[in-house]
Amino acid sequence: MMEMKKQSVHGEWSSRFAFILAATGSAVGLGNIWKFPYITGENGGGAFVLVYLMCVLVIGIPIMIAESMLGRHTRQSPIGAMQQLTKEANADVHWHYLGWMGVIAGLLILSYYSVIAGWATAYVFKAFFGSFSGGDARDIKELFDTFTGSPLTLMFWHTLFMGATMWIVAQGIKDGLERAVRFLMPGLFVLLVVLVGYAMTTGAYAQGLHFLFKPDFSKITGNAVLIAMGHAFFTLSLGMGAIMVYGAYLPKNVSIAQTSILIAAADSIVALLAGLAIFPIVFANHLEPSSGPGLIFQTLPIAFGNMTGGWLIGILFFVMLVFAALTSAISVIEPAVAWLVETDRFDRKTACIWSGLTVWLLGLGTVFSFNVWADIKVFDKTFFQLLDYLTANLMLPIGGFCIAIFSGWIMLQKHSEAELAFSNPLYYRLWQNLVRYVAPVGIFLVFLHVVGVL
Ligand code: PFF
Repeated sequence: MMEMKKQSVHGEWSSRFAFILAATGSAVGLGNIWKFPYITGENGGGAFVLVYLMCVLVIGIPIMIAESMLGRHTRQSPIGAMQQLTKEANADVHWHYLGWMGVIAGLLILSYYSVIAGWATAYVFKAFFGSFSGGDARDIKELFDTFTGSPLTLMFWHTLFMGATMWIVAQGIKDGLERAVRFLMPGLFVLLVVLVGYAMTTGAYAQGLHFLFKPDFSKITGNAVLIAMGHAFFTLSLGMGAIMVYGAYLPKNVSIAQTSILIAAADSIVALLAGLAIFPIVFANHLEPSSGPGLIFQTLPIAFGNMTGGWLIGILFFVMLVFAALTSAISVIEPAVAWLVETDRFDRKTACIWSGLTVWLLGLGTVFSFNVWADIKVFDKTFFQLLDYLTANLMLPIGGFCIAIFSGWIMLQKHSEAELAFSNPLYYRLWQNLVRYVAPVGIFLVFLHVVGVL
């Protein structure tokens, strides 16, 4: 009875490929296109890329395998999954909190992710209507300040983005999430290739390559290693149950380990291509490869407004950013929606309305932190900065740490073995050692770093 109910409530991806598209869509987001290029530039280029890839390999992939496995074994939301797994393993009931933390982290993350994605949506229109045309650094900064200074404007774009996200999620796994990623992911890939192709014609491609890939091992400090590790985590959407709930919809006969490796590789390739699209444009226009939101919303538009073909390239760039953000956003809210449906009190559409409204309301805090609440700070951080810090730096690493420990030490080994179904027992041992020892120790170091001990 229970088993039948679980199947009928949520449904499945129609194929392995659909899962790969959806999970890659979750992983590829603002983290790849905005954050990865600049932290790479700041931390030694090629040497940093190597460290980051190592982190993806020894921490990211094992935890992605673990999350997908926990999801598929239980076929439920992270909350339902942790309740079932705890019971099966006769483990302490406090493990239930892991599911709750994931769902709450998702609501918090989406509340600010949606506001920033709303900026990207607005910038598609700004690009289209020629707002960057001929603008110098001061004009573009003024445009950005006026835009973020208006609570009503930001609220409008936040509402639009949340509306689109919840509309897709409300249609269900196959007709909503899957249909969206089947259209958005190839679109994103084509846009990225076009932009990299354009970057090759700017005359500064070699400079961009040099900036991104020239190994400078002197810059590989302990701090850089920790930044690489933290980013591997955020960019793969790990630690909050997004991949867990996507794994819950994965058909039984699909190899979890193989698909996880593919997804992690695709995510890293997109991050590298994003760098190869952005930096040549920045250098060709004699701009600073500065950090943070500035690179995307204040530096690139100067180039778009002044270069040949910049009108079209600007539009394509921000459309790509919206696509990337949308396929991540739908995965961030899915754990909450799936759980509400599992309570039997809501159908999927009503679950979407309530969770969407909650996120929308929370998002107002981020909207206001750029204008009317800009001066209200706790621990020297605005509401937005506080949320970002709490989720990305604390909740995700703690969630990932617990997922590694749970799947390596607590979950019944016969279940993980059966679910992973490795052809060679050595692979299982390797995975088990990675989640038992390597990943927890690595995450612990990141955690010490973000709380300021290291
Ligand atoms: N991976 C997304 C990015 O790189 O932008 C962000 C993200 C999505 C984080 C989903 C966490 C999550 F569950």
